[in-house]
Amino acid sequence: MNVSADIGPDPRHAAQAEIRAVRATISALDQAGVELLFTKARSHYAWEYRPVGEDMLRRLYDIVKQGATSMNCSPARFVFVTSAEGKEQLRPALKPANVPKVLGAPVTVIVAHDLLFWDRLDTLFPHEDRKPLFRGKDAHIAETAMRNGTLQGAYMMLAARALGLDCGPISGFDNAMVDRTILAGTSLRSNFLLNLGYADESALFPKLPRLPFEEVCSIL
Ligand SMILES: Cc1cc2nc3c(=O)[nH]c(=O)nc-3n(C[C@H](O)[C@H](O)[C@H](O)COP(=O)(O)O)c2cc1C
Repeated sequence: MNVSADIGPDPRHAAQAEIRAVRATISALDQAGVELLFTKARSHYAWEYRPVGEDMLRRLYDIVKQGATSMNCSPARFVFVTSAEGKEQLRPALKPANVPKVLGAPVTVIVAHDLLFWDRLDTLFPHEDRKPLFRGKDAHIAETAMRNGTLQGAYMMLAARALGLDCGPISGFDNAMVDRTILAGTSLRSNFLLNLGYADESALFPKLPRLPFEEVCSIL
């Protein structure tokens, strides 16, 4: 329905119809979908020799970018390390136990965030000028970038699994070394590494226990 003959249909109606159409098609993942993404998903440490092409990385990002961030600020930046030269640049920053896990993966993503993310808010949050909330406020910038960049890294793990890829997240490395080498001269700061590819499951051990609802959750 037109709210005004002058300005045409209310764009909110199309947005509302879009999510209603999705829900009419699928209301929840089935058990197998939940197992693939969460309950039976594993972190992987060894990899088949099976490349992951740029087309797949583009499909992956097209999903990841739709994940929610505060004020739609989208601070994550992803460096897809696929070449032997790139892996060699990463090697000195890795804890020794993580070297074969990273070098064996077809892709290692440096999940980083941009401390200048707020400069893009005119595109990402165009209806209000929110840049003054960040300008000169380094602690708020760092906290917002880390919170939302970490979320986007997690979205990448789940999106990768949804596309049939396996993940191996890695925080056992020297962030400062990556920041002053691979990310030198940029406003990017590394958060964690994410190996992507098709896993060699023979490196897996039994899944570790998790904490029960009673210990972790409360209902107010
Ligand atoms: C942010 C993050 C960092 C991690 N860093 C490492 C790492 O440096 N080396 C490693 O072998 N595993 C690492 N892991 C894998 C965890 O040890 C693993 O997720 C955990 O033991 C649970 O196992 P599961 O994911 O197979 O259920 C990391 C996982 C996450 C999410």
